[in-house]
Formats: sequence, structure tokens, C-alpha cells
Amino acid sequence: MKKLLVLLGPNLNMVGIREKAIYGKENAQSINEDILAKAKSLNIECEIYQSNHEGDLIDRIHAAYSEDVSGIVINAGALTHYSYALRDAIASVEDSIPTIEVHMSNVHTREEFRHKSVISPVCKGVIAGFGKNGYFYALEELA
Ligand code: DQA
Repeated sequence: MKKLLVLLGPNLNMVGIREKAIYGKENAQSINEDILAKAKSLNIECEIYQSNHEGDLIDRIHAAYSEDVSGIVINAGALTHYSYALRDAIASVEDSIPTIEVHMSNVHTREEFRHKSVISPVCKGVIAGFGKNGYFYALEELA
């Protein structure tokens, strides 16, 4: 069975509490359950890993290399816009693990600093603006 990793960065554990007008009222745990249900319906093994710490996300990506993970879905939160270290981690494994970047909000309609992603150039594609559905679309693509 194919194994995919869903990586969630800083403050994504606060969805449902934070900026509800942007990210919605549904809480992170409920969204995670839906992601796992979607993966199950696609016959995929899926692990969701959330961390507020850049280095933990990087360590998880490195570990994925030796774990037979066949794709990564990442919502890196604000790290998207400035973390060259996270970008380099994704690039380190890109020959064997394709990564899809997801944002719940349409970052291009928001503040200027959100328009730039330093991880996009090392990702296979980007999905933004469709709320939790973005995670489902990314899983479908990797499946
Ligand atoms: C986000 C957009 C980022 O700019 C922000 O820092 C987040 C969430 C999104 O899902 O829309 O934390 O990645």
C-alpha cells in the first residue's frame, strides 16, 4: 500500500480557533480525521505530522526518505514564505519523493508577504484557496 505523508507547519493546529474568517470554523482534529478518511478511500496509508518547529519538519522529511514514503503533501504555514532550510529539505528528497504544496487560503489575495513561496520551485505543484479540500486534491494527485 502506498504511503503518503501530510506535513502541517506552524499554527495549523490552531485552525478552527485562529482567523476563522480565513481558515473556517472546523477544528484541526476534525480536518485531520477527514484527511485520513480521504486517504483510506483512496487505499493509501497516510500519516499526518504537525509541528510548530522548523527543524522538526525538516527531520520528518529526512526520515521519510528511508521510510518508503511515496509522496508528501505540505502546508508549511508561514515557513512557506521564508524557510530556505525547509525548501532545501524538500529538494533533498525530490528525486524520490514528490511534494505538493497546499494552502487552505488563497495566499495571492492576501498580504504581499504571502505571495512569495520559497518552497514552490521544489514542489511538483501548488494548491491554494480551497480550504481543507486542497489536502484531498493533493492526495488524489499523489495517489
Ligand atoms: C497558510 C497560508 C500562510 O500564509 C499562513 O502563514 C498559514 C496558513 C494557508 O493554509 O492558507 O499559516 O499556509
